[in-house]
Amino acid sequence: MVSLDLDFVRGQFPVFAEDESAQWAHLENAGGSYVSTYVISILNDFFTRSKVQPYWDFGPSVKAGEAMDRALELLPATFNAEKKEVHFGPSTSQNTYVLAQALRPAWKTGDEIIVTNQDHEANIGVWRRLEITGIRVREWEVDPATGLLEMADVEKLINKKTRLLAVTHASNLAATINPIRELADRIHEVGGIIVTDGVSFAPHAAIDVKELGCDVYLYSAYKTYGPHVGLMYTSQRVLDQTANQGHFFNAEKPTYRLTPAGPDHAAVAACAGIIDYYDAVFEHHFNDPNSVPIRERISRVFGLFGDHEQRIMAPLVEYIASRSDFRLIGSPSISHSVRAPTIAFHSHSKPSREIYSSLIEAGVSCGHGNFYAHRLVEAIGLDAEDGVVRLSLVHYNTAEEVAKALNVLDGMGP
Ligand SMILES: Cc1ncc(COP(=O)(O)O)c(C=O)c1O
Repeated sequence: MVSLDLDFVRGQFPVFAEDESAQWAHLENAGGSYVSTYVISILNDFFTRSKVQPYWDFGPSVKAGEAMDRALELLPATFNAEKKEVHFGPSTSQNTYVLAQALRPAWKTGDEIIVTNQDHEANIGVWRRLEITGIRVREWEVDPATGLLEMADVEKLINKKTRLLAVTHASNLAATINPIRELADRIHEVGGIIVTDGVSFAPHAAIDVKELGCDVYLYSAYKTYGPHVGLMYTSQRVLDQTANQGHFFNAEKPTYRLTPAGPDHAAVAACAGIIDYYDAVFEHHFNDPNSVPIRERISRVFGLFGDHEQRIMAPLVEYIASRSDFRLIGSPSISHSVRAPTIAFHSHSKPSREIYSSLIEAGVSCGHGNFYAHRLVEAIGLDAEDGVVRLSLVHYNTAEEVAKALNVLDGMGP
């Protein structure tokens, strides 16, 4: 069985060769991941050689357009979607904002939408604000003991007036994977759409919007080893329901309708480096003589990432779940198919800030607070400012980095 070659992987990220950064066990990846050399090289090349208006016929402009087109062609495969279904925006928060404005005109006063109190605010606030326009907003609440959503609770909220369910694929704190396919099928039965925030899921596993049955799926490239860009998939059915949010003369261009601002050209181009990185990992690990389609390459690479992540998160999840003075948020499972390796917890006897400070002092990058899952932190009975401590891993982390964090926690009495 092939397993992830961590030396190779870390060799693709220049940050690990930097003296100052190398001192840190970087366990704050859910806030933003490191970028690979492929992304840096495209950005550098773009800013050096083609930082001009793209798509004219002079040399640097042609190059700029080609670099952007490469990303626009390659990135849809990360959703298993087509080019016309993927929108490149400044961030996920801005993509949901634009989408909410675009969908509202299709709905009547009294129509209903469902939001959770588990999601990051990016997939709650924009929908809740439609309340002042006559939309009824209903909340699917987590179990306050676990921070988890239960299917039986959303059943009580779904009816003929439900137009939309906004729900995270995996929360940035509870990290437990929600049953998106089941939810999508249920919402489709009443003619509604499902908007899935995949920001905390996308760094860890391959996404297949067709398999998930999603109408809208969002993730942020700066958490998947790329530049600061938000990517949004919309099905044709959703796009047909949207009011154009771009310039009127671009209304018929599918990828302009939901992108009112001009994109950051260099950042769009650099997204291709995400795929170049996955490709390099694929080539290094699988000596496949056949030409393997891009979707399959991506899923095999994420298979490697997932196995490694599961191996390194297990001791951390088990340790935190075993401490009677700690409460782990979300599922205590160590299975990668149940939870992402984002581990949020708090202590019954110490402020999260204190635990966070000890970890930082020991050279473990992490954070504490609500991480914009403000409603979730309050729902589970915590102070929104002090919140939880979060240790978030990705595939380039090592067992030694995790051990460093464990060491700090273990040295800390109740
Ligand atoms: C789960 C989740 N959703 C949405 C967002 C917002 O993404 P962006 O910063 O691209 O707006 C974040 C950012 O941390 C997140 O963790």
